[in-house]
Amino acid sequence: MAAPGPSAPVGPDYKVENPQATVSTSVKYDNVHVLPQTPQLIALLTMIRDKSTTRGDFIFYSNRIIRLLVEEGLNHLPCVEHSVITPTGASYAGVKFEGKICGVSIMRAGEAMEQGLRDCCRSVRIGKILIQRDEETCKPKLFYDKLPEDIADRYVLLLDPMFATGGSAMMAVEVLIGRGVPEDRILFLNLIASPEGIAAFAEKYNKVRVVTAFIDKGLDAKSYIIPGLGDFGDRFYCI
Ligand code: URA
Repeated sequence: MAAPGPSAPVGPDYKVENPQATVSTSVKYDNVHVLPQTPQLIALLTMIRDKSTTRGDFIFYSNRIIRLLVEEGLNHLPCVEHSVITPTGASYAGVKFEGKICGVSIMRAGEAMEQGLRDCCRSVRIGKILIQRDEETCKPKLFYDKLPEDIADRYVLLLDPMFATGGSAMMAVEVLIGRGVPEDRILFLNLIASPEGIAAFAEKYNKVRVVTAFIDKGLDAKSYIIPGLGDFGDRFYCI
């Protein structure tokens, strides 16, 4: 298991004393973007990591982090110069997004991120991929996919909250590539990643952008992320 995440003061630079917290491990890969370790983000993550957090709070605070991830993910899409006239009659030189997008959630936990995407991108198309562990081979196996017909012409926001070994994400990327989506049009959004998953994925797919809120310490023998938050799908949908 990798070294524990570093402890760092969390808060604005101008404050003399900020509380210490474990912040994300940093990584060397250019295609991996970790959200800024702000007090808001660390507090939200602390809520969802806490085993005593109720399901209602888990959903509420997860949704806030998902919103941050989607907003950051959208920053990686192309935009072009766009000027507008304001009600004062003056012009403002801005930008607008260019290109079509869609979401693809890895079932079941990834579906929890769909609403956050819809909240930012009205009427966005969302495809689904179901990958589960094959009990005989212990390897991830594709069971189902339903993707927009024209997915090859779109930027794809791939959604899965927990990026553990990276096996499912890699299989999902293979499905997308098989449908004609270029690697550099795929953005993988997740809440918590493991250093092992990030390394395996980022080295294999160095053009796929990964946006994560936190890279944790490592994986346990059952491939759960440590310290992690347990089973995301169970906490969001069941417990
Ligand atoms: N999936 C989860 O829900 N949690 C983990 O820690 C790893 C995979």
